[in-house]
Amino acid sequence: MAFSFRFYVLLRLFILLNICFVGESKKRNVLLIIADDAGFETDVYNNTAIRTPHLQALARRSVIFQNAFTSVSSCSPSRSTILTGLPQHQNGMYGLHQGVHHFNSFDQVQSLPLLLGKSGIRTGIIGKKHVGPGPVYPFDFAYTEENNSVLQVGRNITRIKLLVRRFLQEQEEERPFFLYVAFHDPHRCGHSQPQYGPFCEKFGNGEAGMGRIPDWTPQHYTPEQVKVPYFIPDTPAARADLAAQYTTVSRLDQGIGLVLKELREAGFENDTLVIYSSDNGIPFPNGRTNLYWSGSAEPMLISAPEHQQRWGQESQAYVSLLDITPTILDWFSVPYPPHSIMGNGRVELTGRSLLPALETEPSWDTVFASQSLHEVTMYYPMRAVHQGAYRLIHNLNFKMPFPIDQDFYVSPTFQDLLNRTQAGRPTGWFKTLQGYYYRERWELYDTRSDPAETRNLAQDPAHQPVLEALQARLLKWQWATEDPWVCGPDAVLEAKLTPQCRPLFNGL
Ligand SMILES: *[C@@H]1O[C@H](CO)[C@@H](O)[C@H](O)[C@H]1NC(C)=O
Ligand SMILES: *[C@@H]1O[C@H](CO)[C@@H](O)[C@H](O)[C@H]1NC(C)=O
Ligand SMILES: *[C@@H]1O[C@H](CO)[C@@H](O)[C@H](O)[C@H]1NC(C)=O
Ligand SMILES: *[C@@H]1O[C@H](CO)[C@@H](O)[C@H](O)[C@H]1NC(C)=O
Ligand SMILES: *[C@@H]1O[C@H](CO)[C@@H](O)[C@H](O)[C@H]1NC(C)=O
Repeated sequence: MAFSFRFYVLLRLFILLNICFVGESKKRNVLLIIADDAGFETDVYNNTAIRTPHLQALARRSVIFQNAFTSVSSCSPSRSTILTGLPQHQNGMYGLHQGVHHFNSFDQVQSLPLLLGKSGIRTGIIGKKHVGPGPVYPFDFAYTEENNSVLQVGRNITRIKLLVRRFLQEQEEERPFFLYVAFHDPHRCGHSQPQYGPFCEKFGNGEAGMGRIPDWTPQHYTPEQVKVPYFIPDTPAARADLAAQYTTVSRLDQGIGLVLKELREAGFENDTLVIYSSDNGIPFPNGRTNLYWSGSAEPMLISAPEHQQRWGQESQAYVSLLDITPTILDWFSVPYPPHSIMGNGRVELTGRSLLPALETEPSWDTVFASQSLHEVTMYYPMRAVHQGAYRLIHNLNFKMPFPIDQDFYVSPTFQDLLNRTQAGRPTGWFKTLQGYYYRERWELYDTRSDPAETRNLAQDPAHQPVLEALQARLLKWQWATEDPWVCGPDAVLEAKLTPQCRPLFNGL
């Protein structure tokens, strides 16, 4: 009797495991869509001045994250964190990958496409790759700026549609896939292809010399129509700039519609996890390259076919782009292998799988951030933690002026801000250039009572306990992620033997 009961239990367990296994193997694909410098210029996030019906349709099948953040506000570094789950200071992609910037991840990094490929999952990338070296980020199917025009694979939505179709047509029946579609829209292009307008909003619009993108119906907006976020000067120049950006967002939106249609028509809609987000803040003052809310908050939609109970709901949970790798590994049940990068400690992912948030609302309330450079000349290391109401930023090189990037510099918004500041005219901005360039070492904001982050509480005696608790939290994360900057700016890290900070007595 006892024996047969035990046998029965074992049998039940076996059946249960089997069901779980079948359940697991059913959910097999991932489509990751990353926009380039996109923000909240979408009606999904209540911007009523713009229409993005395809993002809306995706949002109706998704959990809409209200507190999603990038850990770094720069393109290549952010993409490296998305594809490794490791902050830029840990994976080595300290700044931009292309040209003279030349940043790359460490050779020992075990990236998401590498781990998935080793597990038999087919990997594809269409659009902007912007990370390296090649062997760390291998894809089976790749149409990127490395062997195509980035305008074609990143902004020509007809071409993107055809490439997605080809990828899905070549898909073998039982093999899972991970497809990464990295739009180059709505990135600026006034510094590289000014003939197409500041946001390449004219590229493919059918006008003389612009070519045509057959699947795109450009949406036009007047400067009066746009919503000017609090961190952008409300001037005619900035409004015209935003109107151009909105037109480019319409190409992104329609492109997303085409990609999702291809997925649906190929029969993969019901077994594919779809994630939509962006790499960093929008390319406006106080946006991209900053770790303030305006530079690091991201749109994020996650759609899982089998979790319909939360479709269309908003989540307040604090989530990070560092969570994307753990989420996708979890979806495919691929373990993160034990390894080290510099031969020191074992690498741990500090992000988490977001799949539980698709079932019930979690209470996650902390995200971390780490930035070192953008362009190679733009050394301005910052570390940050955002917990509950508070954001703490550590500006390690606070005595230097905050650096400005090339495409942002020539933007109509920034040129206008420079001109107005030089001429002593009203700027319409919530900061002064002087205040923007020269920052305090520690910045502490209560983002609930001060969402624009204009009142630094770091020196406020009443906030000392909060300040110290967050400093300790941040430091702990820096040690856990092997941050080479952990001792700066007033000490030197002696990393060999027992890693420790040795004081510099430099007066900081
Ligand atoms: C949009 O606005 C409504 C009404 O104020 C609010 O309930 C909702 O949370 C907002 N949604 C987003 C995504 O911001
Ligand atoms: C493009 O380059 C990537 C990386 O070098 C390679 O994997 C891929 O096969 C190439 N694709 C085409 C179509 O040549
Ligand atoms: C976009 O791609 C399609 C398909 O490859 C092509 O016919 C069209 O000319 C391209 N448009 C532009 C503006 O390059
Ligand atoms: C996906 O599921 C929906 C409803 O659950 C169903 O209407 C649709 O036919 C399914 N699509 C495929 C390709 O199985
Ligand atoms: C800024 O000033 C320069 C030089 O005076 C001028 O050429 C340029 O058009 C101005 N730009 C804007 C956006 O006002």
